[in-house]
Amino acid sequence: MSEPTAQQNWVNPLRDSRDKRLPRVAGPCALVIFGVTGDLARRKLMPAIYDLANRGLLPPGFALVGFARRDWEDADFAKIVHDAVREHSRTPFREDVWERLAEGMRFVHGTFDDPDAFARLASTLDALEKERGTGGNHAFYLAIPPDRFPTVLQQLSDSGLARRSPDHWRRVVIEKPFGHDLESAQELNALVNRVFPEDAVFRIDHYLGKETVQNILALRFANQLFDPLWNSHYVDHVQITMAEDIGLGGRAGYYDGIGAARDVIQNHLLQLLAFTAMEEPISFAPRELQAEKIKVLKSTRLAGPLDETTSRGQYAGGWQGGVPVVGLLEEEGFSPESRTETYAAITLEVDTRRWAGVPFYLRTGKRLGRRVTEIAVVFKRAPHLPFDETMTEELGQNALVIRVQPDEGVTMRFGSKVPGSGMEVRDVNMDFSYGQAFTTSSPEAYERLILDMLLGEPSLFPVNDEVELSWQILDPALDHWAAHGTPEPYEAGTWGPPSADEMLRRTGREWRRP
Ligand code: BG6
Repeated sequence: MSEPTAQQNWVNPLRDSRDKRLPRVAGPCALVIFGVTGDLARRKLMPAIYDLANRGLLPPGFALVGFARRDWEDADFAKIVHDAVREHSRTPFREDVWERLAEGMRFVHGTFDDPDAFARLASTLDALEKERGTGGNHAFYLAIPPDRFPTVLQQLSDSGLARRSPDHWRRVVIEKPFGHDLESAQELNALVNRVFPEDAVFRIDHYLGKETVQNILALRFANQLFDPLWNSHYVDHVQITMAEDIGLGGRAGYYDGIGAARDVIQNHLLQLLAFTAMEEPISFAPRELQAEKIKVLKSTRLAGPLDETTSRGQYAGGWQGGVPVVGLLEEEGFSPESRTETYAAITLEVDTRRWAGVPFYLRTGKRLGRRVTEIAVVFKRAPHLPFDETMTEELGQNALVIRVQPDEGVTMRFGSKVPGSGMEVRDVNMDFSYGQAFTTSSPEAYERLILDMLLGEPSLFPVNDEVELSWQILDPALDHWAAHGTPEPYEAGTWGPPSADEMLRRTGREWRRP
């Protein structure tokens, strides 16, 4: 029997009656990584590929090809992958799995602007097709700085490597930053789409690969409990926080001039907002999910005036975990005059019937009090409390908190009677924790996303429109900040600049201290 063609492999998601509880194994293919010597490849991509192989989710005919300038042989490349896997993989190391994977590893050395190197890449892929039966299905992962995209895309086009046919697929994977504002994102998208049609483009936002982020959909759309309250009648505001305790030592090349808002608000946090605020999709078919996210992003805009509704800061020296740490301006590689923000907070409005009047506060920062990402839906106070004021002095607002990481789960905060003969009501928490509820550990985001990409399953990859809409939302804040001086310093190990607290205090609210 002949192998099914790429078209025959395609499953109409609306008619797809597969049992979705079962994992799917990728079909025959080769994955080419540009930028194999970089940090992302070593820390995330190589370990994720091994973890997939270890879980039996890669096909026997799988091949991994590294492309870089180094003068390596296949064996040198395999050694680099081996070391990365030993150091960073999630699942235990198994010699037999490794050996099978290593048999399909090849290295092509060359520079991005050298057509001969791409010709060598093409013949390596042809040989792999014959030796390992990759079926001519190739994914090209651009784990490289975006200024190199045009050259590599052009070479993929000129060498014929980007050309798909009914018998084989060709896909490209790109990592953020997807531009630095709306205009540059449009240019980048046009450039990518000149070579690869949109359905062959997989943009990685690794937050969408996280279990807890996908669980937002389960929580909202598989339950009856929350939806009746999920609107402006009951919700006072929403806080989306991505706080990190790490500094930016070693990342100046990427981060200086980019800043916190472009680095994570434009992508991760706006995607979290979209999952939290979108309407129910008619199914989980990729296009349906994307359509709902696009609708909600189209309805989202910055609340103003921007000097009151946004805040940005830059960490100064301080203490973290009992250790003194330097400020951004002293970090290696950063200009001592750098105006790059390491903290950003914005206020958004979602102009829909469901959300009119409910502010969404988004904040992110480096060198903050602790590492935590969460979405807190904070409810209005009960319209009437039949208690004396003193009885409810310790009662805050009810909240539902989706704990994205590190302590993955969901918390509900509500008032409860303090035991005793009197009546006093105080906040308590009810927790669901992944660690306690399930015995299996969650796959790494990159495992999920690489597998989905190899399967041609696009649900968890933002499309062109989402990227551009996100810039459209954020651009006015970026322009405003660019025109208004330097970011406000905040001490490392604290929760950001005073203007961020002021931003919420003005509206009678305060940030959670997770
Ligand atoms: C990346 C950002 O996208 O996400 C980094 O560029 C950030 O600045 C990282 O540190 C955080 O990822 P995670 O999965 O550890 O929350």
